Amino acid sequence: MQIVSYLIYLIASVLFIFGIKKLGSPKTARQGNTLSSLGMFLAVVITLFDQRVLTFEYIIIGIIVGAAIGSVMALKVQMTGMPQMVGILNGFGGGASALVAFAEYFYLIDHAPNLEVSTSITIVLSVIIGAVTFTGSFIAFGKLQGFVTGKVVKYPLQNLINVILLLAVLGAGVIVVLEPLNTINLYGIVAVSLILGVLLVLPIGGADMPVAVSLLNSYSGIAASMTGFVLQNNMLIIAGALVGASGIILTIIMCKGMNRSLMNVVLGGWEDAGSGEGAGGDGPKGDAKSVDAEELAMILDSAQSVVIVPGYGMAVAQAQHAVRDLTNILEKKKIDVRFAIHPVAGRMPGHMNVLLAEAQVSYDKLFALEDINDDFNNVDVAIIVGANDVVNPAARHDQSSPIYGMPILNVDYAKTVVVNKRSLNVGYAGIQNELFFYPNTLMYFGSAKEAMNKLVNELKEL
Ligand code: TAP
Repeated sequence: MQIVSYLIYLIASVLFIFGIKKLGSPKTARQGNTLSSLGMFLAVVITLFDQRVLTFEYIIIGIIVGAAIGSVMALKVQMTGMPQMVGILNGFGGGASALVAFAEYFYLIDHAPNLEVSTSITIVLSVIIGAVTFTGSFIAFGKLQGFVTGKVVKYPLQNLINVILLLAVLGAGVIVVLEPLNTINLYGIVAVSLILGVLLVLPIGGADMPVAVSLLNSYSGIAASMTGFVLQNNMLIIAGALVGASGIILTIIMCKGMNRSLMNVVLGGWEDAGSGEGAGGDGPKGDAKSVDAEELAMILDSAQSVVIVPGYGMAVAQAQHAVRDLTNILEKKKIDVRFAIHPVAGRMPGHMNVLLAEAQVSYDKLFALEDINDDFNNVDVAIIVGANDVVNPAARHDQSSPIYGMPILNVDYAKTVVVNKRSLNVGYAGIQNELFFYPNTLMYFGSAKEAMNKLVNELKEL
């Protein structure tokens, strides 16, 4: 039986690895999801055959209640609510790892009191990381959902208090390793780690939460991996390591895409981020030329190459279907249409890809920043739909700008730039965009969905 269970755990681990590999491309992502789910199903089933499972009643109740809540949540969640959904699931993952390690500690000191040092170290780490992830994720959820202030929260001696709590928790962890039978220390670790989770996430601004959620996702994987060591379960070690590593890689990609250091995000770097109240008034000024749907339709009708740059505004307006209609009508007129996708356009990784996939825009029309940026010189019209920071040329030359150094899409190199948004207002970074005042830029004001529909109707009449 043990060999069979090792074999099935191995198959589940391989399915996770292939699953995550396939998640790397939108074309194979669904397949990847299915493979990983199959791996998880196998892992759960084989775990139920473990000899230490004495009664199935609670497990069955847990599965029914969990599956019912999970299914309703997954069916009801809006695409824009995905970050908080992922956030709360990370929290449960971290909490589960902490609970399992905690229970295993008491089981072991009852049955085999001479705990090995490696086991007690992994128990302590699993409990600390799992508990921090649990409360941290709930704060992240609350900030994204609006229950907890989205502002950067700062108070005196903040970092010092966090460092002291961290040292206290690590100190208590050392005592657990040295004196495993002294159980009070583990209770202390749980309590302080739960507080630490709150205090570490509280300073992070609401709009920086996607980065925090990705980091907490990584923590939940590390906690699971530690629990795998505690239970000597290789599958859990591998699955946790995959989540831990992919979460941290995603966090780094997001930080690079914003040209921010992880420290800057974690310590609540951009006070104005996401508030829309930043340095909007102090930015470049001038006359922005506007264009209406009829004029824009004529400009597009004579173009050969068009690149559409979607951004957060497209997501807010749910304009992806209207954008798809625009693509179709332009293509009918034999105009080449491509999409330029910035890695941090929108508010979560892959935000634009997911929306465009939902609207059935073919993957081969989507180009990543590095694959299209050198080609904007050859583009007749670049249409920006609800994007702002990711096309702000100040990132290339204005050293005083908070986005200086952030890679941007070179839309201003196109012959004509059309920016669709409702006003000249700032985006996430809270800074004015000089692109709006460039001689080759035309502002097409309006909420993205209505604006795109109007444009499509005008194009139909030409
Ligand atoms: P933003 O710079 O945030 O700009 C979005 C623009 O959309 C706003 O200026 C707004 O202008 C416009 N808008 C809002 N509602 C609209 C509507 N209904 N119709 C049309 N336009 C509308 O967006 P972006 O260019 O996508 O850049 C993303 C930003 O988020 C970056 O600064 C990035 O660093 C940050 N960020 C991204 C992520 C990830 S992972 N994607 C995570 C955290 C932070 P009006 O009010 O004038 O309409």
